[in-house]
Amino acid sequence: MNKYKRRLNSNCLPVIAIDGPAGAGKSTVARLVAERLNYIYIDTGALYRALTYKALQKGIDLRDEKALSDLAANTNIRLLAENGAAQRVLCDDEDVTYLIRTPEVSRYVPFVARVPGVRANLVRIQREMSLNGGVVLDGRDIGSYVMPDAEFKFFLTASNRERALRRQKELAAKGFQTDLIELEKEMIERDLLDSQREVGPLVQVPDAVVIDTTTMTIEEVVYKMLEIINGGEK
Ligand code: CDP
Repeated sequence: MNKYKRRLNSNCLPVIAIDGPAGAGKSTVARLVAERLNYIYIDTGALYRALTYKALQKGIDLRDEKALSDLAANTNIRLLAENGAAQRVLCDDEDVTYLIRTPEVSRYVPFVARVPGVRANLVRIQREMSLNGGVVLDGRDIGSYVMPDAEFKFFLTASNRERALRRQKELAAKGFQTDLIELEKEMIERDLLDSQREVGPLVQVPDAVVIDTTTMTIEEVVYKMLEIINGGEK
């Protein structure tokens, strides 16, 4: 049972939850929506990526749930908001902002993220950061588990091909050349792993507004979301 209760006082600013599969544009629009509302953006995937990076660095066997849970309990991951710049990710004070975006980390992150002990620790960080509201979180289980009482919930989707194209462009800009078909296959596999795990799976909750971004520009998606948020619709 989810015993979490956020609203300690009614003056809290709203919480905006954005879930969806890989490459649906969540992080880009989440950052922009947060910027326009002057809210804090919480990239929850960055937490799972940072822990995966550390596990790979230490050569931990990713099938060893206990080792991964212990690692999560003994790792200090922080997200630092910076005006106008990419959010910095610190893992035990090492700046891993760029190191966690490699295809290798992307491939292995679902194996780390499926471990209950890992999720318990990283969900605690997300909830602590969200206590006073005024936050935009993007992830897989935000509306369903991390912040079930979020005032606004969105579920972003896009076709498999479009998601792979977007990710390919993003990786190319970082100097990684990738094969589109391979990338698409990998993203579908990752979505499947994320959807099928027992704890905190990728799920579309009934009270989320679904936005198919396949043929929409980033600005159009942001506009639509702000219209709903500012209009107070749920
Ligand atoms: O940017 P992209 O959509 O590819 O992924 P991400 O948001 O950086 O998340 C990377 C991975 O972290 C996901 O594939 C999940 O395995 C895991 N994750 C999770 O389990 N729960 C979250 N709330 C966010 C990410």
